[in-house]
Amino acid sequence: MDFESYDVLVVGGGLAGIRAAIAAVDANPRLKIAMVSKVYPMRSHTVSAEGGAAAALRPEDSYENHAFDTIKGADYLADQDVVEAFVREAPIEVIQMEHWGCPWSRDPDGKISARPFGGMTTWRTCFAADKTGFHMLHTVFQTSLKYSQIHRHDEAFATKLLVEDSRCVGVVAIDMRSGRVQAITAKSVILATGGLGRVYAFTTNGNICTGDGMALAYRAGVGLKDMEMVQFHPTGLPFTGILITEAVRGEGGYLLNKDGERFLKRYIPNKMELGPRDIISRAMVTEFEAGRGFEGPHGKYMHLDVRHLGEDKIDAKLPFMRELGREFVGIDIVKDPIPVRPVMHYMMGGVDADISGATPIAGLYAAGECANVGLNGGNRLGSNSLSECLVFGAAAGRAAAERASSVGPVGANPVTALLADETRRIRSSFLDKKGGEERIGTIREEMQHDMDAGAGVFRTREGLEKLTRQLGALRDRFEKIKIEDSSRTFNTELTAALELDFMLEVSETIAYSALAREESRGAHARRDFPERDDAKWLKHTLAFRTDRAEPRLEYADVRITNFKPQARTY
Ligand code: FUM
Repeated sequence: MDFESYDVLVVGGGLAGIRAAIAAVDANPRLKIAMVSKVYPMRSHTVSAEGGAAAALRPEDSYENHAFDTIKGADYLADQDVVEAFVREAPIEVIQMEHWGCPWSRDPDGKISARPFGGMTTWRTCFAADKTGFHMLHTVFQTSLKYSQIHRHDEAFATKLLVEDSRCVGVVAIDMRSGRVQAITAKSVILATGGLGRVYAFTTNGNICTGDGMALAYRAGVGLKDMEMVQFHPTGLPFTGILITEAVRGEGGYLLNKDGERFLKRYIPNKMELGPRDIISRAMVTEFEAGRGFEGPHGKYMHLDVRHLGEDKIDAKLPFMRELGREFVGIDIVKDPIPVRPVMHYMMGGVDADISGATPIAGLYAAGECANVGLNGGNRLGSNSLSECLVFGAAAGRAAAERASSVGPVGANPVTALLADETRRIRSSFLDKKGGEERIGTIREEMQHDMDAGAGVFRTREGLEKLTRQLGALRDRFEKIKIEDSSRTFNTELTAALELDFMLEVSETIAYSALAREESRGAHARRDFPERDDAKWLKHTLAFRTDRAEPRLEYADVRITNFKPQARTY
């Protein structure tokens, strides 16, 4: 049997993945690189990032300030050596993007502009109006096109990592156009598949964000780190969940309750709308519970008001927000306040990886939202994510290239056997399965609503225990799904089933990790344990797969360098 063979294989075609591919080929131009993505790269979820990318570029800023803001924002669960490396690399990467043609918004003197963002003590969020992710993704994608060494497998769905003897040698992927199940081998594999937001019903994440890379690594035996740390962004549009960027508040927008009050004065008076996301989301839910939210057909909401900014500023800095208001709410944000409510936005947890993206499996790396390299801890600061994709995508690309330059080629064994096993599994568990009565869509919707209810902004033991039972029951029902489409070409029913299988698995890691952490830290707010407890819980959670639904939880130290944990007051 012959396989497509590469030196470095990147799973995922978003900002982290493409940056990794470019870094790998820059590190060693003799390498042959593959990029496997379930969507065409320009449809990766990076495209919907709006507000900007953080980097300490301005003279009044410093690495130390960016590091401190990030560590404090993370509620001290970040690994400080990783944060310190990140803040040094972020400006280099932003300038690199400039050289590759990213159309950053500029100050009158021509320098890359910056705006304030939540939890940051100074203006350090570089932006391209309010479509920053779109422009950054274009920039790296068009740059990648000049490298003949980068080969793309667009619309290929990775179902399994090829691992033997704790060494990763590639993936099994379904070529969605032909339906062919194929092995793609490589000396190094980088997971850069993005987040898992679709395990929740109300999310800013696109349909493709189904936790694939996390589930692939988890099944291969890698721990998922800090999965209880799920970020809720304060400003999603009710019903659709579409992101209204934090840049709206960075540019001066106000959050108002139904009494017209800037209610954040009760919760975070020194920062107000520029507080971190976890604190503002909790404040909004608390206001809702006190009866001070608006009631609408899609639940409770607040007003985000930019009318005082004026049309010129809105059109210059927030043109896409005006478009979203018009298209999705039927309002003009120049004249009308925007209805918003907290929405699941980002996963701090992910595949356990070190500062170079290396996981405990030799040859397997992870970068971007699917990874947890220790940067974001309990709560990521807005705009650190795009920079993270660049910095740690590049780091993983370099490390993967170094390994690929020094190890021998991947042999046909055990790939042949692993491919045959996986092909059989896809047939027997999905395509050839007869007699099932459960619908994929029904299970997915129940899972999403259960996750919203049990692992939302506030959590309790009771709610999380209930969630683990619900997810266990959904997993049993998933065994009885029916797949009616037996076609080979673009069988989206099959890929939806594979995605749901991944989502159920990663949801369980969220529920069990959250149930175990009996404290409140960052985005993990337990009503029954409202205080942070450093003595017991200043540690990372690692969830490992077992034969039962319940993962095995282990814990690892948080690396503290220069910033001693202190009360997180703003
Ligand atoms: O609000 C935003 O523009 C989101 C940015 C981020 O998550 O980094």
